[in-house]
Amino acid sequence: MGRLDQLGAITSVPGEVTRLYLTKEHRAAADVVAGWMRDAGLAVSHDAAGTVVGRADGATSGARTLLIGSHIDTVRNAGRYDGCLGVVLAIEAMAELRRLGKCLPFAVEVLAFGDEEGVRFPKTLTSSRAVAGTLDDDVLDIKDADGVPLKEALTKFGCDPAKLKKVARDPGAVLGYVEVHIEQGPVLEAEGLPIGVVTAISGANRFRIEVTGKAGHAGTVPMPQRRDALAGAAEMVLAVERMARETAGLVATVGQITAKPGAVNVVAGEAILTLDIRSPVDRTRRRGIQQIDQELRSIARRRHLTVNMVETYGEKSATCDQRFISHLTTAADALGQTAYGLPSGAGHDGLAMIKLCPIGMLFVRCKGGVSHHPDEAVKADDVEIATRTLMEFLVRVCTTGRAIA
Ligand code: GLV
Ligand code: MN
Ligand code: MN
Repeated sequence: MGRLDQLGAITSVPGEVTRLYLTKEHRAAADVVAGWMRDAGLAVSHDAAGTVVGRADGATSGARTLLIGSHIDTVRNAGRYDGCLGVVLAIEAMAELRRLGKCLPFAVEVLAFGDEEGVRFPKTLTSSRAVAGTLDDDVLDIKDADGVPLKEALTKFGCDPAKLKKVARDPGAVLGYVEVHIEQGPVLEAEGLPIGVVTAISGANRFRIEVTGKAGHAGTVPMPQRRDALAGAAEMVLAVERMARETAGLVATVGQITAKPGAVNVVAGEAILTLDIRSPVDRTRRRGIQQIDQELRSIARRRHLTVNMVETYGEKSATCDQRFISHLTTAADALGQTAYGLPSGAGHDGLAMIKLCPIGMLFVRCKGGVSHHPDEAVKADDVEIATRTLMEFLVRVCTTGRAIA
């Protein structure tokens, strides 16, 4: 818990936790994590996407590798546990196994990813997609809001962009990917249970929505003649909310809006919105996107605006591997814990990792289900249960004849 506080203090905005991908705060957090990995006896390396990797070789040379990880980037004004918990806990589990003199038959690598939140650049999961070998060809040229290309940010962070594609792992050398994460929802708390086993991660798409009208003088352009992009965008925000409310299993969010030119006495000629849309059922999400697209076009037509939806991110829902679900459940049982099965509405690096290998996830109860907020909180006792479950999973389940793969 002390380490999580320590990471939480590494922020670009004093008084809050804000640590975006490839910033100097991310660098500082990566260096701290690398030190903890070394203390845990792990061999540390840094890949070309900014991921810190801590490796423990298996007893058998050439054994396949189990990847355990989470992320150390955050949203703006975040909590201290989203991502960091899974990294710190995995390091602690490996350190404790070492103290107990346990050597696993397979190799383990703890991965501290850097781009799970996708807050800085328009694309998301760059670090886990690099490992999975699914990066888009244009990824190095994407730019942050200040116009800094990913290529430049990587170089500044200490990575060689030319090696980015080489980060991809050989699927034949990987056993799977397991992640421990806070639930970020209220289910475990309501059930009175410290941990849960994830069944699937919701698929998600993100869009930049460009609404274009005509800028004009706020005092002289008569109301009926206006083509106000911001007023149109406001109607679109409410339409998105309504459509998602009316569709079971769908959530949709406009989290950001920019008006241009953005002055008190100018009718907005342009508005840019973000849209994030998710569902555990891919069909529901695809249909939701279609309906939103039609509705926004109809609002734009009626107001003599144009609207353009540009997809910036898309991942299908990811079903957790049945073997991982059952092994994590057995591990929890062995500790006298009920591992409640539940889906994840939040996105995780597993969405990218599933293209490489089977995935599994363990959730930890969090207070009030609050996340992406400074009030995010977990109980130390629950964290200990999750750490012991992960250790049990690694030692007992994976070495007693019920191998992962
Ligand atoms: C990441 O936390 C996401 O679900 O957007
Ligand atoms: Mn997260
Ligand atoms: Mn998050």
